[in-house]
Amino acid sequence: MELKLRIYQDLSTLSHAAAETVCAELAQAVQARGTASIALSGGSTPAALYQLLATAPYAAQIPWAYVHFFWGDERCVPPNTEGSSFKQAQELLLSHVPVPPENIHRVRGELPPTEAAAEYAQVLAHNAARGLPWPCLDVVLLGLGEDGHTASLFPGPIIEAEKTQPTLAVTANYQNRPANRVTLTPRVFNDARQVLFLVAGVGKAEAVRAVLKGYANPIQWPASRIRPTLGTVTWMLDEAAASLINR
Ligand code: 6PG
Repeated sequence: MELKLRIYQDLSTLSHAAAETVCAELAQAVQARGTASIALSGGSTPAALYQLLATAPYAAQIPWAYVHFFWGDERCVPPNTEGSSFKQAQELLLSHVPVPPENIHRVRGELPPTEAAAEYAQVLAHNAARGLPWPCLDVVLLGLGEDGHTASLFPGPIIEAEKTQPTLAVTANYQNRPANRVTLTPRVFNDARQVLFLVAGVGKAEAVRAVLKGYANPIQWPASRIRPTLGTVTWMLDEAAASLINR
């Protein structure tokens, strides 16, 4: 695993840098393999990035027809309701760019969680290289909760299935967000080529320090379980989220 740390003055600067990185990675993937895949994140942090990707100059840099969209996690709510990460991405990005509908692989949050998780595992397998159980994602966007969660991997005893399965149905209460979720597991994240953590705000500083300083207990700080085997993880932080790193 290669780890990179990038610190930006504020969320706007961070989002522009993330847009440049996403554009470059997706274009390079299509150039090299004729296709590209990205897993989106929910939450508030990536919203500005999604809007940037839908506008000049970034939108013109991405070969949208060859890009496949997945989600690192999804809340188990219908796709047209508040709280749906798909709805957020659809409104801010996907409805503004020419991505073929068949390239958008959302988690069907309208299903019961375990059914949605099982179906998504099949979606991943269907979109993987021959014989592989899930895609080697070119880009994974991840956020970080103040409690150290990422995607929908929350603090607490590690579910054994996460060590072998690509998806899990979980229940977790975080802020006022939907509790029932489907998440990809570290098995999928750690096969990715580029994992980008986008983290902003002083409320995340303690979690950033715990995870980046390397002493993190993987049960208490789930983001520390994201360690791509051959890929690169880049932590893109604003100054506030990075404020405790050297303490
Ligand atoms: C979600 C995300 C979740 C998010 C963090 C940070 O579904 O909400 O997958 O993991 O990235 O909770 O959220 P903020 O960006 O809103 O701080």
